[in-house]
Amino acid sequence: MKRVLFVCLGNICRSPTAEAVFKKHFQNKKIDVFFDSAGTAGYHIGERSDARTIKHGEARGYVMDHLARQFSAKDFDDFDLIFAMDDSNYSNILKLSRKPEDKNKVFKMAELTQTKKISEVPDPYHGSAKDFKNVIDILEDCVPAVIARFYS
Ligand code: 4NP
Repeated sequence: MKRVLFVCLGNICRSPTAEAVFKKHFQNKKIDVFFDSAGTAGYHIGERSDARTIKHGEARGYVMDHLARQFSAKDFDDFDLIFAMDDSNYSNILKLSRKPEDKNKVFKMAELTQTKKISEVPDPYHGSAKDFKNVIDILEDCVPAVIARFYS
C-alpha cells in the first residue's frame, strides 16, 4: 500500500486537506507512503487549493501545496488505495472502474473515522470557517484507523 489517493469533487477543499494531513502524520511516524489527491470534476484543474483550505490547513501546521487535477481511470493503475470523501465521489470513482481489482481499491474515507459518527466528509465549499476546521478534525481522526487497518 505504497501509493494512496484521496478524491473529492473539486480537489480544492477536502482531498488536498487529506493529502496534507496524511503526509505529515505518516512522515512523523516514518511510514513511507506517497500521497496524492484528485477531484472527480475538472472545474479547478491546475489551481491551488481554495484560499480557506490553505489558511486553515496552514494554521494547523500542514503544507498546502497541491495543484488540482482530475481523477481518471489511470489512477486505478497508479494507486493501491483510493479514499472517496463522500458517497457521490465514491460512485463517480466506481463508474470509471474497469475490473473488480479497481473497485477493491476504493473506500469511503468516513468508514475509517475513529470517534466521529459520520458516513461522509462534508463538503465545506459553501460553508464557514467551522466547516473547514471540521474537515481537518475528521481527517486527523482517520489517520490512526488507516494505519491500524492497512499499515499494522
Ligand atoms: P471539494 O469542494 O470537493 O472538497 O474540493 C468543492 C470545491 C469546489 C466545488 C465544489 C466542492 N465547486 O462546485 O466548484
